[in-house]
Amino acid sequence: MPLNINMNQMLDKIRELKEEIEKASVSAKEEVEELRIKYISKKGLVGQLFNEFKDVPAELKKEVGQAINDLKEFAVNRINELKDNFEGADQGELGIDLTMPAEPIRLGSRHPLSIVKNEMIDIFTRLGFTIAEGPEIEDDWHVFSALNFPPEHPARDMQDTFFIEKNPDVLLRTHTSSVQIRVMEKTQPPIRAIFPGRVFRNEAISARSHCIFHQIEGLYVDENVSFADLKQTLLYFARELFGEKSQIRLRPSYFPFTEPSAEMDVSCSICGGEGCNVCKYTGWLEILGCGMVDPNVLEACNIDSKKYTGFAFGMGIERITMLKYGIKDIRHFFENDVRFLKQFESAN
Ligand code: PHE
Repeated sequence: MPLNINMNQMLDKIRELKEEIEKASVSAKEEVEELRIKYISKKGLVGQLFNEFKDVPAELKKEVGQAINDLKEFAVNRINELKDNFEGADQGELGIDLTMPAEPIRLGSRHPLSIVKNEMIDIFTRLGFTIAEGPEIEDDWHVFSALNFPPEHPARDMQDTFFIEKNPDVLLRTHTSSVQIRVMEKTQPPIRAIFPGRVFRNEAISARSHCIFHQIEGLYVDENVSFADLKQTLLYFARELFGEKSQIRLRPSYFPFTEPSAEMDVSCSICGGEGCNVCKYTGWLEILGCGMVDPNVLEACNIDSKKYTGFAFGMGIERITMLKYGIKDIRHFFENDVRFLKQFESAN
C-alpha cells in the first residue's frame, strides 16, 4: 500500500535525522549555526517534515505527528547544548563558567593598635585638638635639648636611646614629645594638637616592654591655660575611653619638660576599682605622664613664657590597648598572627 510505504519512509527518515543530529560534532561556534539552519530553521530538514505531514492519512496523523514533534524537540535541545559548550569556551580557556557567583572576599580587620589610636584621636578631635606628625629619625635638639633635658640626663645614654651611625646627633625618637617642639617652632599659640606616632627605646623585649611602641602626645598652649584645664581634659578623655564611671588620680612626678609634672591613674576598668590581678589589687591603672609645659621649653621654641602657658601629656598606645582588651603580652601586637588579629574584626 502506497500509503503505508509512504508512512514507513517517513518514520525511517525521522529516525535517520535523529541519528544524524545525535552524531553531529562541531569544532566552532559557526558550525552550530550551520546545524541550526540545516535542521530546525523554517526551511530546514525537520521543517520540511512538517510540510510532508499534511499528506499523512488522518488515522496515522497522531503517531507520525508525535514522532516529528519529538524529533524537533530533540534537535532543538541538542543544538542548544552544542551552543552552550561554545559559549562556555568563549568565557575562559578552561571553559569555566565565569557567570558563576565568586567566592566572597574575606575582609581583613584593623589592627588593635589602630582601632584604639583612632578612638583616642576621635575623643581629642571632639575637644578641638588637631593632629600633627613628626619624623621618627630625629636629632638631639628635638628629642632632648629643647625639652630641657640636662646634658648628663640618663635618657641620652646609649642604653636607652638608639643612635644612628656614629653621629650622636642622629637618633630614633624615644618619645613623641619631639613633635611638641617641631609644632611650637613653627606655630605661635594658640596651639591645641595631638601627635600620634612610633617611638623607639633600647630595651630588652619581654611580655611587658618592646623596643618599638606607639605613643599619643597632647599639647595645649594659650593664654591662661591652667592645671585645672589639664585635669578636666584628661578626666573627659578617661571617661570617653574607659566608661563614664571612670575616676582619675594624679600623682606628683618628674619630667624635664613639664613643671609641675604628674602621672595619671585611671580606676581599673576590669574590676571597677575593687582590686584584681590586672591592677595588682590597687584598683588603679597608670596610663600617662603629664604636666604644665616648662617655661624653658616655651622659650626654646621662641614662645613668650610670660604671656603663654600650656599643658602636655603623653601615653603609650600599646599599654592602653592591653588594658582595654585584657592583652597580656605586648609582643602579640608585632607578630601579625591572624588568630590574634581576627579577634578584633567586630571592633572595627
Ligand atoms: N614623653 C613622656 C614619656 O615618654 C610622656 C610625657 C609627655 C610626659 C608629655 C609629660 C608630658 O614618658
